[in-house]
Amino acid sequence: MQKLEQLYEGKAKKVYATDDPRYYIVDYKDDATAFNGEKKGTIVGKGAINNRVTNHLMQILAKEGIPTHFVKELSDRETLVKKVTIVPLEVIVRNIVAGSLSKRIGVAEGHKLQRTVLEFSYKDDDLGDPLVNEYHILAMGWASEQELKQITDYALRINEILRAYLADLNIDLIDFKLEFGKTPEGELVLADEISPDTCRFWDSRTGKKLDKDRFRRDLGDVEDAYQEILDRLLGR
Ligand code: TMP
Repeated sequence: MQKLEQLYEGKAKKVYATDDPRYYIVDYKDDATAFNGEKKGTIVGKGAINNRVTNHLMQILAKEGIPTHFVKELSDRETLVKKVTIVPLEVIVRNIVAGSLSKRIGVAEGHKLQRTVLEFSYKDDDLGDPLVNEYHILAMGWASEQELKQITDYALRINEILRAYLADLNIDLIDFKLEFGKTPEGELVLADEISPDTCRFWDSRTGKKLDKDRFRRDLGDVEDAYQEILDRLLGR
């Protein structure tokens, strides 16, 4: 597979065309941003770790029947993925109160929610990815009713699969963000990444944060936390 021109550069990844119109190559960067790009830095080795963590988790989900964009890991930072059009929504799944939800409703981080919470943000950096609901999504045509139902079903199922899998590794899945895409054939698939950049992972024995909050909040040990997640996933 030949890597052709760069199509897009995001905050954490670049996307390239290939000589096969069905596929793109994603290339993970070590760049880290937070608060919609206001805070910038580098997490050494992050790109390679997020590439492997994402691919590992996507393959577990695929085995459980969740369609994903993953095709093949090409190198430590590069992965071949299906070409999709991203649904312009960040789909956030929460099991425990943390982050922006803690601030929004005035409940301390760590409070266990009585049931899973699903939130949607409209993907627009200039607007700071505003929170939206089902009515906005359907009224704006960001997704159809059928797509929204499928996204909701997939997100809740992904939560169950990942929560159980991570619990066995002594990792609590606090919350996470998903993105979905549509293939040219119209199939809805899980896209983007699932990594310590896009999830909150807390060690279930010590409560230690093993995710990007260490960077966002200047907690130190950032690289070690990312490595720890990869090591546990790989059984090291
Ligand atoms: P939040 O508490 O800041 O809304 O974040 C909820 C989850 O979504 C958390 O696991 C981090 C993830 N997330 C992203 O992946 N990208 C983002 O831009 C934001 C704001 C959060």
